[in-house]
Amino acid sequence: MKQKSIWMENLKTKTYPSLKNDIECDILIIGGGIAGISTAFELKDEKEVVLIDKGKIGYGVTSHTTGKLTYLQSTVYTDIENVHGFKVALNYLNSQKEAINHIKDIISKYKIDCDLSPNDSYLFTYENKENLDKQISFLKRAKVPFEETKLPINIPSISAIKVKDTYVFNPLKYINKLKDIVNKSGVKIYENTTAIDLDKTNDGYIINTKNGHIKTKKLIICTHYPFFVIPGLMPLKLSLEKSYALSASYKNQNWNAINIDKETYSIRFYQNNIIVGGYSHPLYNNLDYQKEENKLINFFNKHFNIKPQMVWQTHDLTAHDYLPMIGFLNKKDSNLLIATAFNKWGMTNGVLAGTILADLVCGKENKYENLFRLNRQPSLEKTLNFITNNFMIGKTYIGTKLSKNKPFYNQSYVTKIDGKSCGVYVDENGKKHVVSNICPHLKCSLIFNNSTKTWDCPCHGSRFDIDGNLIEGPSVFDIKIE
Ligand code: FES
Repeated sequence: MKQKSIWMENLKTKTYPSLKNDIECDILIIGGGIAGISTAFELKDEKEVVLIDKGKIGYGVTSHTTGKLTYLQSTVYTDIENVHGFKVALNYLNSQKEAINHIKDIISKYKIDCDLSPNDSYLFTYENKENLDKQISFLKRAKVPFEETKLPINIPSISAIKVKDTYVFNPLKYINKLKDIVNKSGVKIYENTTAIDLDKTNDGYIINTKNGHIKTKKLIICTHYPFFVIPGLMPLKLSLEKSYALSASYKNQNWNAINIDKETYSIRFYQNNIIVGGYSHPLYNNLDYQKEENKLINFFNKHFNIKPQMVWQTHDLTAHDYLPMIGFLNKKDSNLLIATAFNKWGMTNGVLAGTILADLVCGKENKYENLFRLNRQPSLEKTLNFITNNFMIGKTYIGTKLSKNKPFYNQSYVTKIDGKSCGVYVDENGKKHVVSNICPHLKCSLIFNNSTKTWDCPCHGSRFDIDGNLIEGPSVFDIKIE
């Protein structure tokens, strides 16, 4: 079984250079996932726009999604309604429908070959009809047409609904084409260019990368979790979840589904493959990630009786009040904008972030500016989440710091070398790979992910390979030791 997402298989992409010297620009976008590239697209006719990514554009979180463009998003509307009321939930629904129409227009106008296809969306439950009824109640009040029906596949389900006007696509093919479009329009793209920190100036920011400085008037950060430390952003406002996905050969079908039960499964099809995602959990819980991944594989084996060909893991940021965070980081600073916390619905919200950020950075109004602004007040419920998360992260830190395993082949353990905490992975040939066991971001202890063979941070999701090279931030440094 391959440890990579189906979107990466056999896809040829153009490589862009890394930054080699100091540059200046009007607008700098950091992060080339769906939000960053969509923002670059909306700004492609502005002058001096630069887009940088620490790796290859599109190969971060976006390449590990399921690629659904749907407004039937699990329990998101009732969740938002419970915190903010019906009007806000309805406004969020409208934003998602508009995002779907917008991306359809872009794909059609630029003839982007990204396997976009109409796809009915199902919402189902195998244990809680009452909860599904709550979702139905919202859809009725929002005047969204739906049909009560049966799930068109033989997995446990007691009740299901479906809606139309939703789509699926190949997110990586879309991003690949979009980056060429924006580059041809004049947006400068630098890949393998890692932003390390930023300095505020009188009229903008200077971003320090590993290869040079970038002076910019406006800065837009679309890096999933921000690469620099924002006090209180997490865990005060956000939490991070890990989830798993797999793909296997299967007869193509034109529907997708997600359930609303304790264990969530997301299903879609792509070119005679089925993609099933699920078993998400807070990053700091269930630290044996291989075991969690196996739960999804076992579920798949039980109900489909075929072998998965690919399996992958991903991280999702969720805001405690269920709304993404898109806009100015601080109301008093019109030069710094951010988009994060897409609550597992990154395709629609990433496209939407592009339109909102582009309007705001150009001084225009956007009708969704207030809906997604960052300075929303935390409620009591959110504060309680904060306390719980803080406690859990502290527990994780201590727990992983003390754990020690015996060194067998293909195993990892934690030890001290010259008084420093080190992580050791012994590969299948008996070679030891020794790295620092402390995350450079905020000093949490790393744990070994035996499935992906990476050192993962349970606090904010940084990941490193067995030789200490950074794979995913917010850390901007490796964990290599001399
Ligand atoms: Fe923040 Fe590791 S401490 S990612």
